[in-house]
Amino acid sequence: MTPLKVVRNLITLFWPERRKMRERLADFPVSKELFYKFGNLRCHYGYSQVRDVHLYDPEFPWAITCTPSEAELLYTLVSKFHPRRPLEIGSYMGWSTAHIVLALNNTKLQCIEPFFETDAFFKHRTSERALERFRQNMSMCGCWDRIDLISLPSPGCLKEQCPEGGWDFLFLDGWHNHGQPLKDIEGVLPYLRPQAVVVLHDPWVPDVRDAMLRLMYYGFSVYSLDTANFLTVCFRGEPFAGWDEFCGVASEMRHRLEQARVMRRYLGLCEMSIHTVCDAFKIPCRYHSDS
Ligand SMILES: C[S@@+](CC[C@H](N)C(=O)[O-])C[C@H]1O[C@@H](n2cnc3c(N)ncnc32)[C@H](O)[C@@H]1O
Repeated sequence: MTPLKVVRNLITLFWPERRKMRERLADFPVSKELFYKFGNLRCHYGYSQVRDVHLYDPEFPWAITCTPSEAELLYTLVSKFHPRRPLEIGSYMGWSTAHIVLALNNTKLQCIEPFFETDAFFKHRTSERALERFRQNMSMCGCWDRIDLISLPSPGCLKEQCPEGGWDFLFLDGWHNHGQPLKDIEGVLPYLRPQAVVVLHDPWVPDVRDAMLRLMYYGFSVYSLDTANFLTVCFRGEPFAGWDEFCGVASEMRHRLEQARVMRRYLGLCEMSIHTVCDAFKIPCRYHSDS
């Protein structure tokens, strides 16, 4: 290691944000172990108005990851639900990806991630360097062989990539604006199995909220958690076998941010707000929040 790198590592080790990260990770053993395998991730406070630690790679600063709490909730959900045909749309540096993969039994995770660098005019171009960083990260975590990476944008590639019988799990965390989440939901819906679980990240972003309402219109019940980005689990019909156990973990204090409980009222994500919209637009399905 060069002297410059030693100095840089020492600075980041004692940097207050880094300390905050270490404190937050203490509650999340799976994330803690993975975090040290990534190497290039740094702290970011996120864009929602609920404070928690997110991560980003300073070389690829156009996106950020979900929080350790949200990543571990994904891990828990996948380990209780046991999907056979899982899909992630939007993987970035592989943080959520690694948590999902580690919880899977004997199956690969399909990842749709075009590694879009975004300029000020929201023009997209693929970054080969970001793809290579993703591959390195996943190799360090022991996940690379368990991923089927499709570096194309959704929803255009979905039809071609769909496994026989369709997907039974989707984590949707791709492009969040310009109606894209709704396009993704419309695009993926014909390829989802009836019992599929869909997880949304960031329904506080208006375009993601539109996608959530569309899922409710199609008969999905929606469970929104008090995390920094209101991680939201959606499924049709009766809950799957491990649902109660998942809810038990999700209700632990480490996953329930008081600020999220308060902020959802101002973000139109409390039950009363969503039910008013549903009644007005005759959307049949139910919305449940922690609060
Ligand atoms: C918020 S980041 C994903 C973070 C990741 N899920 C995590 O928590 O670690 C969003 C990602 O969506 C990707 N993206 C943008 N447009 C997309 C599209 N049309 N299809 C799939 N992914 C897209 C971006 O390249 C970016 O890496």
